[in-house]
Amino acid sequence: MKWLILIVSIIGCFSIRGLNKASVESIPNYTLMNISVPIDHYAPNSPTFQMRYYIRTDYYQQTKSGPIFFYCGNEGAIEVFVNNSGYIDFLASQMDAIVVFAEHRYFGQSMPFGSASFQTPNNLKYLSPHQALADYAYLLNYLKREYYGLPVIAWGGSYGGMLAAWFRMKFPHLVAGSIASSAPIFHFNGTVDPNEFNQLVTQHFSEVGGPGCPAVIRTAFQYLEMMRYNSSYYYNLEQWFNTCEEIITSDDVYSIMNWLYNAFSYLAMTDYTSPSNFLQVLPAYPVSLACGNITEVVDLTDYAHVFEYVAKGANVYYNSSGTQQCNELNLTVTEGSLGDEGWDFLSCTTLSMPIGMNGVTDMFWYEPWDQLAFDSYCLQTWGEATQVNYAALWYGNSLNQTYILRHASNILFSSGSLDPWQSGSVLINSNPNLVAYTMIGGDHHSDLRMPALNDPAEVVSGRVIIKQTIQYWINGTIS
Ligand SMILES: *[C@@H]1O[C@H](CO)[C@@H](O)[C@H](O)[C@H]1NC(C)=O
Ligand SMILES: *[C@@H]1O[C@H](CO)[C@@H](O)[C@H](O)[C@H]1NC(C)=O
Ligand SMILES: *[C@@H]1O[C@H](CO)[C@@H](O)[C@H](O)[C@H]1NC(C)=O
Ligand SMILES: *[C@@H]1O[C@H](CO)[C@@H](O)[C@H](O)[C@H]1NC(C)=O
Ligand SMILES: *[C@@H]1O[C@H](CO)[C@@H](O)[C@H](O)[C@H]1NC(C)=O
Ligand SMILES: *[C@@H]1O[C@H](CO)[C@@H](O)[C@H](O)[C@H]1NC(C)=O
Ligand SMILES: *[C@@H]1O[C@H](CO)[C@@H](O)[C@H](O)[C@H]1NC(C)=O
Ligand SMILES: *[C@@H]1O[C@H](CO)[C@@H](O)[C@H](O)[C@H]1NC(C)=O
Ligand SMILES: *[C@@H]1O[C@H](CO)[C@@H](O)[C@H](O)[C@H]1NC(C)=O
Ligand SMILES: *[C@@H]1O[C@H](CO)[C@@H](O)[C@H](O)[C@H]1NC(C)=O
Repeated sequence: MKWLILIVSIIGCFSIRGLNKASVESIPNYTLMNISVPIDHYAPNSPTFQMRYYIRTDYYQQTKSGPIFFYCGNEGAIEVFVNNSGYIDFLASQMDAIVVFAEHRYFGQSMPFGSASFQTPNNLKYLSPHQALADYAYLLNYLKREYYGLPVIAWGGSYGGMLAAWFRMKFPHLVAGSIASSAPIFHFNGTVDPNEFNQLVTQHFSEVGGPGCPAVIRTAFQYLEMMRYNSSYYYNLEQWFNTCEEIITSDDVYSIMNWLYNAFSYLAMTDYTSPSNFLQVLPAYPVSLACGNITEVVDLTDYAHVFEYVAKGANVYYNSSGTQQCNELNLTVTEGSLGDEGWDFLSCTTLSMPIGMNGVTDMFWYEPWDQLAFDSYCLQTWGEATQVNYAALWYGNSLNQTYILRHASNILFSSGSLDPWQSGSVLINSNPNLVAYTMIGGDHHSDLRMPALNDPAEVVSGRVIIKQTIQYWINGTIS
């Protein structure tokens, strides 16, 4: 089913070539380990599986006084997060911390049922945030035998940030505090406007590229909507968009729309000030570059011309490496990659995070979030119904965030002003024991990335807040 593509994975589609290849890599100064953990933490005598984690102890060995920094792995092979969370390692070197990056079950190579993990509903039913959090608690209990008494700081970005925040709520005896970066813990039914995400994407393009940029993109989608059900355009669309695939059905036209949509929404999330290789190899300031290309359009009434420039903008996302011969519409479609499958299952069951669009407050087209249609897709694909109220039951969800978080403590929620995932994130302090702020110029967990020369000032100062907050949680003072 095509509109599945509208499931915006928080950190992105891992079907992009090579990224989710579950190859064992060696990461300098980290040791790759396995631990046997129960497949079902909520049943006695459960069989176990091998969960992977990376650990680094050399900073700690210097003084044997530092904390444990524990990264709560999210929806991908754990190497992705080691590579894109350089600040955790950087701060560990200053605080003599042990660093642990734990892989989320059903991602990378931490497969409870090996290659059969995704094959039956029975094998899949242990894929949930509460089982993953229990894995992390299990691993920490094990590590604490060796490193007795060390305070633990949980970390995470995006869905990993949600897990870090929830970890502190559920296991306060294990963690002194959590750094939850770009963590949309309230992006659930009833507490989020489903259109807000795409509105923020559009606002980002407008702020960075000028209002002309979203205007051109919106025009392109209006033309595509007009051509979608008129087959006399299909052959030309193939030429105009230089697609690898033939355009022969309205679904194929819809694939073009989603190909563009994915490019622009992921560009908005990864608009970093330095070159990056998170979801894609990207230059610095990619939205600004894309809008530079898009706004070179001179005649908005000429749809072939509009398409040409909008496709150039999308190629800042898909083709920065310069290796694409033609535009492969299925490049970010979710099939065939474990990371995407796992996220699709999560978003169909426990993490149903509504996202829609209307083509008015955003630059896309009219396709509002449709819970019923989504439910039937999920039932058809996974044999599972969405658990719309899961987050509300397990972690709290209500229009009144202050109320939900009134008893929570020692969680730092950071967000970036450019990040569409501000939608559903915690942007204000709900009580004196929490910290929440938005960094101007920051994007999706910018602060967890390795410090670089042209980082926005508020990302730099945000990292200082992180350091001081951790010291305060551990020692009651800031040194
Ligand atoms: C690994 O550790 C060695 C020795 O401390 C150090 O020289 C090197 O820079 C480290 N490499 C990384 C990538 O941290
Ligand atoms: C971890 O366990 C898996 C599955 O049993 C195995 O293939 C892999 O070699 C193990 N890795 C390490 C580092 O022990
Ligand atoms: C992580 O970075 C290393 C270089 O340090 C690179 O070889 C590897 O491909 C990267 N892995 C991922 C999954 O990005
Ligand atoms: C979703 O939230 C709305 C508004 O709070 C509520 O009316 C609706 O019943 C919820 N949907 C489900 C499936 O619980
Ligand atoms: C399809 O587009 C052609 C122009 O390319 C137009 O002549 C025709 O009327 C359109 N058909 C419909 C059903 O709108
Ligand atoms: C994507 O499309 C190309 C060309 O049609 C095809 O060869 C390839 O197998 C497709 N990839 C996936 C993951 O579906
Ligand atoms: C996009 O803009 C950049 C910067 O102006 C330029 O170097 C590049 O050639 C343009 N890309 C295309 C495909 O036109
Ligand atoms: C990708 O970039 C290369 C190098 O700039 C260019 O030759 C190629 O035409 C681009 N591919 C597409 C599909 O635009
Ligand atoms: C939200 O909850 C807080 C804390 O319980 C309460 O003080 C406040 O009045 C509530 N706000 C609304 C609008 O209900
Ligand atoms: C906590 O205080 C102790 C004693 O003053 C000091 O050695 C240690 O470095 C401090 N730890 C942190 C994380 O600030």
